[in-house]
Amino acid sequence: MRFGHFDDDAREYVITTPRTPYPWINYLGTEDFFSLISHTAGGYCFFRDARFRRLIRFRYNNVPIDAGGRYFYIRDGEEVWTPSWMPVKAELDRFECRHGLGTTRITGERNGVVAEQLVLVPLGESAEVHRLTLANTGEVPKRLSVFSFVEFCLWNAWDDQTNFQRNLSTGQVEIEGGAIYHVTEYRERRNHFAVFGVNAPIAGFDTDRESFVGLYNGLHEPEVVLAGAALGSVASGWAPIGSHHLEVELGPGESRSFVFVLGYVENPIDAKWKAPGVVNKERARALLARFDSSARVDDAVAELRGYWEGLLGTYVLSSPDERLDRMVNTWNPYQCMVTFNMSRSASYFESGIGRGMGFRDSNQDLLGFVHLVPDRARQRILDIAATQFTDGSAYHQYQPLTKRGNHDVGSGFNDDPLWLIEGTAAYVKETGDTAILAEDVPFDNDPADTATLFEHLKRSFHFTLENLGPHGLPLIGRADWNDCLNLNCFSETSDEPYQTTANREGRTAESVFIAGLFVHAAPDFADLAELVGEMDEAAAARRHAQAMTDAVLEHAWDGEWFLRAYDFFGNKVGSRDCDEGKILIEPQGFCIMAGIGVDDGRAVKALDSVKAHLDTDFGIVLNQPAYSTYHVELGEISSYPPGYKENAGIFCHNNPWVMIAETVVGRGGRAFDYYRKIAPAYLEEISEIHRMEPYVYSQMIAGRDAARHGEAKNSWLTGTAAWNWVAIAHHMLGVRPELGGLRVAPCISSEIPGFTITRRCRGSVYRIRVDNACELGEPRLVVDGREIAGTLVPWAPPGTTVEIACRT
Ligand code: BGC
Ligand code: NOJ
Repeated sequence: MRFGHFDDDAREYVITTPRTPYPWINYLGTEDFFSLISHTAGGYCFFRDARFRRLIRFRYNNVPIDAGGRYFYIRDGEEVWTPSWMPVKAELDRFECRHGLGTTRITGERNGVVAEQLVLVPLGESAEVHRLTLANTGEVPKRLSVFSFVEFCLWNAWDDQTNFQRNLSTGQVEIEGGAIYHVTEYRERRNHFAVFGVNAPIAGFDTDRESFVGLYNGLHEPEVVLAGAALGSVASGWAPIGSHHLEVELGPGESRSFVFVLGYVENPIDAKWKAPGVVNKERARALLARFDSSARVDDAVAELRGYWEGLLGTYVLSSPDERLDRMVNTWNPYQCMVTFNMSRSASYFESGIGRGMGFRDSNQDLLGFVHLVPDRARQRILDIAATQFTDGSAYHQYQPLTKRGNHDVGSGFNDDPLWLIEGTAAYVKETGDTAILAEDVPFDNDPADTATLFEHLKRSFHFTLENLGPHGLPLIGRADWNDCLNLNCFSETSDEPYQTTANREGRTAESVFIAGLFVHAAPDFADLAELVGEMDEAAAARRHAQAMTDAVLEHAWDGEWFLRAYDFFGNKVGSRDCDEGKILIEPQGFCIMAGIGVDDGRAVKALDSVKAHLDTDFGIVLNQPAYSTYHVELGEISSYPPGYKENAGIFCHNNPWVMIAETVVGRGGRAFDYYRKIAPAYLEEISEIHRMEPYVYSQMIAGRDAARHGEAKNSWLTGTAAWNWVAIAHHMLGVRPELGGLRVAPCISSEIPGFTITRRCRGSVYRIRVDNACELGEPRLVVDGREIAGTLVPWAPPGTTVEIACRT
């Protein structure tokens, strides 16, 4: 069942009923200021850091699930309704929410009044702009009362939800005409405040939640709205809100727009005050003035559209499959940009107060956005590398505002360092900017202790080599990619974190996944070493990769597939000898991506085992059989009920590894079948089962052991976005940058008989036309009219357009 449809020209998903199977959200903002907004206007916004600079309050796990946002109550006679349907939930004659690239447009219609709420964060602004357009489509004049509503968060979202003995006494506001200022804590250490203004005369305002809503009322029945007149309440402690009351008269056929701006304003410390005790509001007034008319909002929308069209012009596909086109051209890169901006911090499944930026996650996210914003990717790489320790290990997470490593989580996830090689290599391939390798980068953010970025990569590589276990395979540490495979944890105590507890410190538990990752990263590392003239290092790296490959083939081949690990006691994990968890997905994907077992048939065998044991109608599950009981020696993986998350859930992040592995053995058809099982545009028709947004990937879909097989969770902030991008764009469609040129080597189902791709890269345009006769084939390339040997198109001088014909 569908709950809307794609509008491909507008690059929007159009939701046509408010009763979606879950709140379907969008992200607004491109640089410093971000908003999460659901199709019913729920959510919140923040400046840079969702924990420390949150403007409006949101209650997670609420009842109902998505209450709290930016609402416009409309009082028409005695009736009250909200165009976003929530929170009043008065039935609408028509509802539509268009989530697009950085804009959301919610329209509700009731009893001859159409109200459209257009929301965006304009480029370069630290503000959410809402344009409310009211139209009288009926025959009689309308007198409407409109009440805006936001509830301010007291900046620190953690404190806001926990420290009531303090924060119920700190709230402060100021009101000046139509501008409501939220100035809590400005009088002491903050130099920032929020403003909520409107470009029209107001009939009244409220700033105290209790006065506006009523202590025993919900947001669906605010007393002030029911009574029809603002009280002029001034918050003093408790819960500050911003609400404007506007009186609007509309003749038949008439419409009017109002622009509301919810902004974040920061003053220089020495210019905080205009006079003692009087907040300097100059910047706020200037902000409101920049959006004082509807035309200015139109301009901001057009500018934003131009920004996105520019970005998305980097890789443009035209194929006979419209669902594939919309994934590749719009929604997959859009989600990659959101993961770039958010990492894993703020979504409807991540509270914005917990995890910062993950070392591993951020490096993988790079794979999906490096072609879109290479300059920003460059800075990101340097920021990440600066959280590495001198021995090559790394903080598992760092905080976006301070860019410093997070001590609570610490280090010890032994795959982390290698991802820096993967991320950096992707950047250099995309841009050719080898100068980044010579950049001076601190260790642990200590300016007194620095080395070149290449040296950081070297430490990453050698960290693995210095931490090998009894079989010559990498030690796993706290966990590897699979955060829940905790082989040194041995936790018997309920409130102990799996990820940071090591009750038995040993140098025995080894990861075959890290071995695969190492072999995969090694050629890139060696190539980069050659670029900086470290020839011996490069040669040694290639030898180490071979030795690791040998170790995998000798100690990590289980007969039909690759083992997953050796546990603390040296027992096999992911083996036919195990009772449960006989086969796990990660090493099948990564070892084969790295080329292990490709020559001797083991790769094909392992992939056939994946098909036989792990494939389902909704994607490939992580392991089988699911762990039915808690295995203390394995950790969190066995803590999940069978079929969920890392215990036999369909982890959409590592399904693409198998897709890529299938292309490595030349089976593009099978790769594409896997892709279609998890790519959201293909799941639109089963939205009632899948439940999450049909325009973005989710981290996990419940596996076949779960009662709710096929149901997704944790949409948006997941490495799934980047890896599916790599799988479809680089490997199935087959166009990917390499150091020496653009590789054009499609390997996709013959159901996609032909397609064109326009790829902008390194200042040139490559126009590729593919005739796809078979799914494996040896592609033949004709470049600017001349057949070339192989599939690598050499880089053209900047400013050129290269025409490529490819026949598979
Ligand atoms: C989840 C993992 C996640 C980890 C982060 C675990 O509970 O299952 O998917 O990576 O927490 O700390
Ligand atoms: C989500 C985490 O963000 C990611 O780092 C991890 O690899 C996966 N879960 C799998 O555990």
